[in-house]
Amino acid sequence: MATTKPVMVGTTRVDPPEIVGGCRIITLPKIADVRGNLSFVEGGRHIPFVIRRAYWLYDVPGGALRGGHAYHKLEEFIIAASGSFEVVVDDGSERQVVQLNRSYFGLYVPSMVWRQIENFSSNSVALILGSLPYSEEDYLRDYEVFARARHEGRK
Ligand code: TYD
Repeated sequence: MATTKPVMVGTTRVDPPEIVGGCRIITLPKIADVRGNLSFVEGGRHIPFVIRRAYWLYDVPGGALRGGHAYHKLEEFIIAASGSFEVVVDDGSERQVVQLNRSYFGLYVPSMVWRQIENFSSNSVALILGSLPYSEEDYLRDYEVFARARHEGRK
């Protein structure tokens, strides 16, 4: 069973953190304004892929888990657009927990990384940018199959 190593990312910039599977916290531009802050992200500039899809998780009931899978090809960038939650990432050997709690940074998750999102605060919104359109064939939903593929260097 993989070990759990917490990576706390509060308001502190972590640049670049050692996160399993090539995951990275990426700090986005923040335009501070008395009228409210503005952040933005451009695919291929701030994150290492062209954005082909966006989806978001919202109205998540307390205690619910989302994800619990990996992707063969899809790369993602996960932002806490509102509130906070934890992303558990796992490369088949090691597991880490990354807390996202500000909307000016996010977690880049490459393909072939098992990820689960949990501990959603009330009214939180997880905004997820993806490198590909939705495809059920791209999902790896069995952890043992995923871990074996990782250990054998398959995608
Ligand atoms: P899934 O990715 O399994 O959700 P999560 O990993 O957050 O628990 O998706 C749940 C359902 O939504 C599944 O039936 C597929 C569908 N779906 C789409 O149709 N398009 C999408 O872009 C996504 C992310 C999911």
